[in-house]
Amino acid sequence: MTSHTIPVEPFDFIVFGGTGDLSERKLLPSLYHRQVAGQFSEPTRIIGASRSKLTDAQFRDFASKALTDHVPAAELDATQVGTFLQRLSYIPVDARSGDGFAKLKKTLNDPDRIRVFYMAVAPELFGDISQHLRENELVTANSRIVVEKPIGRDLASARELNDVIGHNFREQQIFRIDHYLGKETVQNLMALRFGNALYEPLWNSAHIDHVQITVAETVGLEDRVTYYDKAGALRDMMQNHMLQLLCLVAMEPPSSMDADAVRDEKLKVLRSLRRINGQEAPRHTVRGQYRAGASATGAVKGYVEELGKPESRTETFVAIKAEIENWRWAGVPFYLRTGKRLASRLSEIAIEFKQIPHNIFGTGAGNIMANQLVIRLQPDEGIRQFIMIKDPGPGGMRLRATSLDVSFANTFEGRNPDAYERLIMDVVRGNQTLFMRRDEVEAAWTWIDPILNAWEENRQEVQGYTAGTWGPSAAIALIERDGRTWHEST
Ligand code: BG6
Repeated sequence: MTSHTIPVEPFDFIVFGGTGDLSERKLLPSLYHRQVAGQFSEPTRIIGASRSKLTDAQFRDFASKALTDHVPAAELDATQVGTFLQRLSYIPVDARSGDGFAKLKKTLNDPDRIRVFYMAVAPELFGDISQHLRENELVTANSRIVVEKPIGRDLASARELNDVIGHNFREQQIFRIDHYLGKETVQNLMALRFGNALYEPLWNSAHIDHVQITVAETVGLEDRVTYYDKAGALRDMMQNHMLQLLCLVAMEPPSSMDADAVRDEKLKVLRSLRRINGQEAPRHTVRGQYRAGASATGAVKGYVEELGKPESRTETFVAIKAEIENWRWAGVPFYLRTGKRLASRLSEIAIEFKQIPHNIFGTGAGNIMANQLVIRLQPDEGIRQFIMIKDPGPGGMRLRATSLDVSFANTFEGRNPDAYERLIMDVVRGNQTLFMRRDEVEAAWTWIDPILNAWEENRQEVQGYTAGTWGPSAAIALIERDGRTWHEST
């Protein structure tokens, strides 16, 4: 039995927004997979709670369709699906008026059983729901609440939201999800750094020239018109996922995998990020928005056409040169870029080491490239270490770059579980290591807010880029000004 299949205690999993998109695409399929993996003990129950007045049978129909649509056919087993649907029930609740919470209380009749309240709803409802839960004495010692981003749209609103939730739940019960932390390759960053003696001695400004983090998507707005146009890439991806990746690359070794040990170290990184002020923003940040172009599936519309408005200043692309002010990272820039409708779907972290101090081979050996370590988060998850070797054959020493590869698909058998599967089971177990603590979220906003303000004050241009390319040319200039180039993935 691997840790993926060790059964957990029976639990009640209550999904507010049970009939919504997240529940359909991620939560129900992930719970199904964990049942199939043998992790559920009986009686584990899943309870949908939303405003729609559904019956249990109608919720089961919804779940059944969710599984058909979002679990590969080969992984759907009729007996398993039957068992899964039997553990589902539904309670209509109104987050505003509190109708339905009394019924929920009757259903959750075992105060000792683990309860997970999952907020798959708009953040405006977090406060009301958590208040009703407490007033109805539903918050027991064994309860946990899970909240999804966006946690605020700036520091002030994030604090407000954290206050509201914190009023009804203790910090140890609050699980703020960043699904990037549930990705296997992201956790592998910690395995690579702290499970090997090889890298850590080199992991600093004496040996690393710079770091690049790219999260490129090919998708556009995806029906998220209302949310996305108010958010933009800086809030949607940079404040959370990208900064979390940066923290895992940059943090000091924690003393253990204990939740606070890891989160204390991440927090220190966030607090060491050099603030980008109004004057520096134009040189350190690039905002972009996609125009009509092409994707793998053919011609695609530009952002404003997709949005259906005459204009918008929302960025669908952002690139930032970030700096960490501490001994380990002084003088090592972290170049971050993320965007929608880019040339390919690709997320990776590239660590570029310094050049060798002296070339003994002379010019005939060709260019000696600096070593690079590339951690590919998706797709084709894996780790590549680029090194120089001798080109085979006589005729002198010619060197060329090649890579030592660990492709996860070739190394490990079986399916790669979705990030949500891991994270949901961590919530049930009460393990907060991969969840963001309040102070982390607020420290991230403390760094993001001045950038947002600078953009507003300077009216910093949102530069157009053609869909299907790597973003505005200013993003290339951002790194090339420093004599470096974006890592071209192959
Ligand atoms: C979400 C963002 O948090 O992450 C989306 O809101 C983005 O805009 C998504 O598409 C990317 O996640 P993944 O797992 O597909 O890389």
